[in-house]
Amino acid sequence: MRMPRSMRKTDLLRHLEDLGWRDPPELPETEAGVSAGADDLERVEAQLLACQACGLSEKRRHVVPGAGSPRARVMLIGEAPGKDEDRSGMPFVGQAGKLLDGMIRAMGLKRNRVFITNVIKCRPPGNRDPKPEEIAACAGFLERQIDLIEPEVIIALGRFAARWLMGSEKSMGALRGRWGSFRNIPVMPIYHPAYLLRNPAGKAQVWEDLKKIMARLAREDRAVSNIH
Ligand code: URA
Repeated sequence: MRMPRSMRKTDLLRHLEDLGWRDPPELPETEAGVSAGADDLERVEAQLLACQACGLSEKRRHVVPGAGSPRARVMLIGEAPGKDEDRSGMPFVGQAGKLLDGMIRAMGLKRNRVFITNVIKCRPPGNRDPKPEEIAACAGFLERQIDLIEPEVIIALGRFAARWLMGSEKSMGALRGRWGSFRNIPVMPIYHPAYLLRNPAGKAQVWEDLKKIMARLAREDRAVSNIH
């Protein structure tokens, strides 16, 4: 079970030290905790808007940092912005985004209460696959976003997100529907909405995977309400 959101990191570390743990993990510089996330996320966004770390910065119309709640329980991570996202600066606003909205609603969640972003934040020309060096150049931004938001669950949309988060080279067929983790945060890989637009039969499997996520969130709710 993860720490209840009402417990700050400093409290947890103090508690661990009281219990005799002599080597607690380092706190983030600002003792950010959950509630300080919004400002810091804006800082990440400002850095992204100025980023020229790879060639994608030359062709982009907009960087797409991500959108949603800094206190999101659920983070959804896709591959890279497409044409519509490059135009608007917002993640998942095209056809795949409409399908993703439906998936979020089907879990009983709201788009503005989750956080949606991508492994890379600028559009690869012609929607080609992101290159390893582009993923590497962007990785620090995504790591920082995850550290600041501290979601209870990450949903990896498609193979690029799933492989990056889980450090795996396996196919989506092998990864989907099985819990993995990124820095102790549970990760559920599911088929990418764009794949589902081409292969609607995969929606039944995605629904099975979404139910696992809903069950996990409900379990966390029960665990927290037992503490309070
Ligand atoms: N596909 C993605 O992976 N991300 C987006 O933001 C849009 C489409």
